[in-house]
Amino acid sequence: MKATIVSIPGDGIGPEVVAVARDVLEATARKFGHAFTFSEHLLGGCAIDATGNPLPEETLAASQAADAVLFGAIGGPKWDDPTAKIRPEQGLLGIRKGLGLYANLRPIKPNAELLAASPLKAEKLKDVDFIVLRELTGGIYFGEPRERRTINGQPGAVDTMVYTVPEVERVVNLAFTLARDRKKKVTSVDKANVLESSRLWRETADKVAANYPDVTYETVLVDAMAMHMLTRPADFDVVVTANLFGDILTDESSVLTGSMGNMPSASLGENKNSAGLPLGLYEPIHGSAPDIAGKGTANPIGAVVSAAFLLRFSLGLEEEARMIEAAVDKTLAEGYRTADIAGAGEEAISTKKMRDAILTHIE
Ligand code: IPM
Ligand code: MG
Repeated sequence: MKATIVSIPGDGIGPEVVAVARDVLEATARKFGHAFTFSEHLLGGCAIDATGNPLPEETLAASQAADAVLFGAIGGPKWDDPTAKIRPEQGLLGIRKGLGLYANLRPIKPNAELLAASPLKAEKLKDVDFIVLRELTGGIYFGEPRERRTINGQPGAVDTMVYTVPEVERVVNLAFTLARDRKKKVTSVDKANVLESSRLWRETADKVAANYPDVTYETVLVDAMAMHMLTRPADFDVVVTANLFGDILTDESSVLTGSMGNMPSASLGENKNSAGLPLGLYEPIHGSAPDIAGKGTANPIGAVVSAAFLLRFSLGLEEEARMIEAAVDKTLAEGYRTADIAGAGEEAISTKKMRDAILTHIE
């Protein structure tokens, strides 16, 4: 199969991990006889430095025309001035919005080899296998107004959490569709005891749920969910929630897997690619990790598994995706560990060594 993939390394450790994911995709293409064409584009801090714009027009245009986008991370201390009008994060939010990626899938399934890397007891992690489905193009991330404002004569600021019924319906429908192929349970997370937008969310989710009588449905308040996710994580299957709540809960959930470095994500929307499948953006959930950027020690597994998701969701290449996931599992089973997942007495290897070890199971 032929496919066009836009690669966006971004900032910090982004380029280091995307390079590995790309090598893995190229090796997979050689093995299975596919032709993937890559084009590399700027986003985030590096794009501000080069063009003054965190999302250059040609990056968005190339991504819209591609079959899938492979993305690393953005941001860093260089662009962190809180008074700056132009910020790297605007690039990421802009491309999510520009590609209509309303659904962000973040699976949480601790690797059996890495149970010791989590601060939670191994017995709690047994059978943990859930997906957080985070709404990605709405809510307080995009609501207007958002501004500095004088309030009662005092300097203040306002952000707006806003949802429409169709925005909630489409992501909750996707949650039920995903649950049907899994453990058949949806947990909708909101703050309906306080927020009007959450009461709309819950009312809408309740109505959608009525169309899926074969799927168990529950609603949980986000503060309680923050606790349940750590005390009884094996109880969940598909957890669907608003943009901000999903952002927070997925960082928390990474504690279950031992390291954020391992965690992939897929962002999907309504736009289809040349294969008739969703044009998605695939990124590890970790950030740009400026403290270790350029040192060659970053864990590339989150990016590599994201590349597997790219093959699965945007190109329909399930066998290839499974091969990559199996290659990662075998590499971990052989004991290879980057610093973030190395236990006491285990050698911490470089990004390059982890890359080479993974590739031995592909070539
Ligand atoms: C994430 C990140 C982003 C977000 C930042 C970098 C804008 O934290 O993908 O979770 O808040 O969505
Ligand atoms: Mg986040």
